[in-house]
Amino acid sequence: MMELKGLRQIAPYVPGAQPKVEEMIKLNTNENAYGPSPKVKAVLESFQTDSLRLYSSLDQAPLRHELGQLLGVNPEQIILGNGSDDILSMAFLAFFNSGEPVLFPDLTYGFYKVWADLYHIPYREIPLNERFELETEDYLLQNGGIVLANPNAPTGIYKPLDELEAIIVANQDVVVIVDEAYINFGGQSALPLLDKYENLFITRTYSKDAALAGLRVGYGIGSPKLMGVIHAVKNSVNPYNVNRLSEEVATAATKDWAYYVETCQRIVETRDWFSGKMAELDFEVLPSKTNFVLVEHARVSAQELFNHLESQHIYVRYFPKTERIANKLRISIGTEEEMQKVLEVIDQYLSTQATL
Ligand SMILES: Cc1ncc(COP(=O)(O)O)c(C=O)c1O
Repeated sequence: MMELKGLRQIAPYVPGAQPKVEEMIKLNTNENAYGPSPKVKAVLESFQTDSLRLYSSLDQAPLRHELGQLLGVNPEQIILGNGSDDILSMAFLAFFNSGEPVLFPDLTYGFYKVWADLYHIPYREIPLNERFELETEDYLLQNGGIVLANPNAPTGIYKPLDELEAIIVANQDVVVIVDEAYINFGGQSALPLLDKYENLFITRTYSKDAALAGLRVGYGIGSPKLMGVIHAVKNSVNPYNVNRLSEEVATAATKDWAYYVETCQRIVETRDWFSGKMAELDFEVLPSKTNFVLVEHARVSAQELFNHLESQHIYVRYFPKTERIANKLRISIGTEEEMQKVLEVIDQYLSTQATL
């Protein structure tokens, strides 16, 4: 067969599995345990099917208006996307073109490295310290931009805002992207820094706090200067990147944010309770400000536990190829009942191991 010229070779991002099992506890992709706001259902029921004949909006003005009110930022400083993956991907294209290496931690959202490779952006992965924290000093060197998830994934660890600000201040000649996918589970947002720093770009998603992972809506917030550049990229890739249905649903969800404040608080409480219980079972639990925890047992391997949980239709995430966390499991926080069941299954398994 003739060899084809020009085919791209790339090691892609590997998303968490989406098992097709009817009765399962799915704790492997940090989805929200509680459903979306009831207002979402009402929008879907009254949605004008005929409107799909027309292209979607180019600027999502009503949604940006609602978001601006909720976040206390000028709607002109918000750009919407097809999930925050879309926004992050466009931000890499828009902001990291100096030819100097972009910095991000060795353990962070796996997609950063994939986009850097895909877009031929040089990068340096900076090891987190031995407690899996981000050291401010490591980001005070010459670079072509910085991307940090805060709280970080898959560690769950949050970097206090004053420390994050020190990184932004010291890097005012490049763009610093702060990925706040999990910020509404206990961290303090970098939003108040936006007025001070033109080089700050924050990304957010409706997938985690707003329980709308399947809708695919995310957004970025930044200075007018950054907005001009990222809009030019958006209009060079996919101007209609948010579909009509998603825009209407996300707008309704934003208007009903009080619902989400309550459900996120329930998840935070369940997380803290679950972390304590896991510690009692001899797990080391990294301090999390997200809707997941990264844990390691003192004696039983991650692989064994993963296999056992899977056999009970409990799906969690494990990263056997990532050396520093190869013996850890990342467990999303489900409902209290789900987490109670997970504890029971683990407790039972550990007791059989102890008597062997
Ligand atoms: C740190 C982080 N950023 C961004 C995303 C992307 O989220 P989405 O594309 O669903 O908005 C995720 C998803 O898991 C994530 O963990």
